[in-house]
Parts: sequence; structure tokens; C-alpha cells
Amino acid sequence: MSSVMKLSDAPARETRTVKPDLLTVEDAKALDIKKINELFTEHMNPGQLHFMKLLGFHKVKIERAEGMYYFDQNGRKILDFFGGFGSLAFGHNHPRILEARRKFAEEKRQEIAIAFLSQYATALAANLAACSPGDLDMVFLGSSGSEAMEAAIKVAERAAGPNRPKIVYAENSFHGKTKGVLSITDGALYRGQFKLTDNTFRVPFGDIDAIEAAFKSDPTIGTIVLETVQGGGGIIEAPAEFWTKLRALCDKYGVLWVADEVQCGFGRTGRFYAFEHYGVVPDVTALAKSLGGGKAAMGAMIASREVYMKAYGTSKTAMIHAMATFGGIGEASITSIEALNVLYDEGLIDNSAETGDYLIEKLRGLQAKYPTLLKEVRGRGMMVGLEFHDFSQTLPMVLRPVVAALDDKLKGSLPGFIGSHLLRDHGVLVAFTEYNRNVIRLEPPLICTRENVDEFITALDEVLARGVVKIVTDFVRAQVG
Ligand SMILES: Cc1ncc(COP(=O)(O)O)c(C=O)c1O
Repeated sequence: MSSVMKLSDAPARETRTVKPDLLTVEDAKALDIKKINELFTEHMNPGQLHFMKLLGFHKVKIERAEGMYYFDQNGRKILDFFGGFGSLAFGHNHPRILEARRKFAEEKRQEIAIAFLSQYATALAANLAACSPGDLDMVFLGSSGSEAMEAAIKVAERAAGPNRPKIVYAENSFHGKTKGVLSITDGALYRGQFKLTDNTFRVPFGDIDAIEAAFKSDPTIGTIVLETVQGGGGIIEAPAEFWTKLRALCDKYGVLWVADEVQCGFGRTGRFYAFEHYGVVPDVTALAKSLGGGKAAMGAMIASREVYMKAYGTSKTAMIHAMATFGGIGEASITSIEALNVLYDEGLIDNSAETGDYLIEKLRGLQAKYPTLLKEVRGRGMMVGLEFHDFSQTLPMVLRPVVAALDDKLKGSLPGFIGSHLLRDHGVLVAFTEYNRNVIRLEPPLICTRENVDEFITALDEVLARGVVKIVTDFVRAQVG
């Protein structure tokens, strides 16, 4: 008799698997805001709720979102000038993107792109190559900006070779929070005392002399990674000549340039890639956010064929960094294919440039009207930074301790106060930035019209007209009340 036990010989299971007390999809949709707050505290991130409460965001449950607007539980429209930090180029639920996804699901297409070659992932890769200048032809698909940037620094490190593992990165950079790119993300908050890699070298953003000095002094430098426009840093651009000099320096010293376009790419600044404003082409780049059409999690690393082939071009090296389980997954890939088509069919890159100019012109008008509040308006296209003066020195003495008691981060910065008033009193959503608390970040969908800009400007004008003292006292009252 065989000693191998057959399945039928296994002892009968005495108890059946019991379904835990699970919420259904319909239950999830119907949760009220109080319950959502409770579940977030019990199961997600209790500390984060503190910030949402300061801004009044914890009272809002979004029931629906369409185009430029969210609709909350009370039927209120909220104009979206936050745009998911650049993830919503098409606004919310663009009809063509919804239709492509609906059809794909109805046709019962396959999702996972690992066992068989995927027509969707390969078509998306071809489209990305078609949108990319020079020989940026080779594409790796992942599910986030961080994953795309991990792929970018890995392909560069392998192409640079084992003797040149060092990476130059910039002050106030943000390239993601996963463990690899954390070492080139310049934020103490995100670094959180984790053990970082020691193969990095930090330079001031846009400082070509510092970069040349670094390249000269350290022959182990093989890669430089820069956001073309710093988003988390507070919408910071380097001068045009910086980029041409950077390209020349990289060529001279044989250093690979990785352009992080996760936030500033995909038409946001009025060109498909922000680096196209300067007539230069990096060796590697990365996209995510709006690449997913506002509906899917999609990130892409795009490398020059030369760099890619050096890193992974043989059958021996091909699997070192092949796609992960969800890389190039079907529905996300077709969402991105449709998104790229809509981007061009609807002229959204040009709209970004033109309506962006209009937005900046209107904001400069407000700056002239409120020079003691607004310090600078900067950016291009639909990637705009609004820097306020630090008011810690101008606020009346009596109010200073009250504000300080509310939150350390709000001490001298107006954006939090203004953002909360915009939401509460005008149904307008804006974004902030960790690195510079005096900056409001505006990244509206690229479908934004002049009428949307006018609506936003009217709201901001009304809030700024209140003046610092009223803005702050109203905020404090709302917290106490
Ligand atoms: C420039 C830049 N790079 C990388 C990332 C990381 O993207 P993700 O949050 O999708 O991981 C971000 C996210 O904000 C970003 O702005």
C-alpha cells in the first residue's frame, strides 16, 4: 500500500470556515461620516485625523465626483483645485475613460500580464514611447510613482555599472516613500529615522556648479535624479539654461540623468514632459498619477533603449527587474491607453498651457491687491504655487499663543487657514506642501476652464479680503466651536 496520503483519506473537517462580519460594497458606500471617522481611527491612521480635523476635511463625505467637482453628503459641489496632486488630469470620471473600462469588463478580458504576453501592456508601452522624445523607448509598468522611480534608479544603477553606484539628488526633493527612493527623498518627516542607503549625494536644486563639483570630485557618481519641477518642494523651477548645462555635464562625465516627471509630467506644465520646455532629453524618466486616467493605479518608467539594454538586455539579465504581479494589469493598461488618447484628442496639453496662463495672470492680480499676504505666484500650466508671507511676526501678540497651541505647523503659515476657509465657505479644495508650509499648491484637472478659474479666484479673493486677523480668528473659533 502506498504511504502517500490521498486527499480523500484526509480527516473530515469538523468545522466549516465561518465568514467574518464583513461589510459589503453597498455597506461601504452607505457608511456615514461619523462611522468613517471611527473606522479610520480604529483601522487606518489615527494621527492623520488630527490634520484633517484642523482643516475641517473630516466632516466631508464625498458621494460622487464628476469633471471639476466633488459632491458631498449634503449635495454641495466642491471645486477641485487640488486635483489629487496631479492625478486628475481628466477630472473625475471622464466619460471616455469610464466607457473604455466598462467595455473591457463586459468583454471579460484578462488582467494579469505575466504568463502570456499582454496586448494591453504592450500597446501602452508603445504609446508611451510614441509620446516620448529621443530614444526613450523602453517601458516598465508598475502601480505607483514610487514603483516607477524605484525602477528608474535601478535601471540607471545597472547601466552605470558596479563602479558608479552613487546617486546625486536635490534638496527638497520628493521621489516617493518606498524604501529605495526614500534615500533620495529629502524630507526628514518621511525619512523618519529609517536606515538609508549611503550611496547618495545631495545638492541644492538648480545649482549647476554644485553638480559639476560633485561630478568632478567623485567618479563613483553614476546617476543624477531630479524632478523637473519640484512639486513637494513648493512648485520650484530651475532656470532654462540649467537643463541644457545639466545635459552637457551628464554627457561629459558619463552620468545618467533620471527626470522624475511623476507630478510635473503628462501635460501638467503645458508640454507632455516638463523637460520638453528646455529642448533636452533625459536618459530615464518616470510617469504615474494622471497616467492612470484618474481611475487606475499606473506608473511607468521609460528609459532610453541604450540604458535599458545595458541594464537588462540579455536573457541572463532580463528577469532582474521584470514587472511585478500587477505591472501592466489589463484594466489599468487600457485605462492609460484611453487616457493618452483623450489627452491629445481633447487638446488638454494646450489647455493646460493656456488656461494655466490665465490662472497665473489672475493670481498675479490678487498678489497686487494683497501684497502683504501674497509673496509670490509661480509655476506654469496647471502646476502653480502660491507662496504667502510668513505671518508669525505680524500676527497680534494675543493671537500667537492660541495659534501655536492649535498646531506647531500652523504657527506662521497661512495656507492651512485659507484652505480650510475655502472649503468651508466656498466649496473649493486646494493642496498644501510638507516642505514649505507657506505654499498653496494648485494642480487642477487639465480640463479646467476659464470659468472654473474665475470661480476659484472669486473665492480666494473673498477669503483674502478678510485680512490676516479675521482669517486666523475665524479659524480658531471654528476649532473651539
Ligand atoms: C515627483 C514625485 N515622484 C514620486 C512620487 C511618488 O508617487 P506615488 O505616491 O504614486 O508613489 C510623487 C508623489 O507625489 C511625486 O510627486
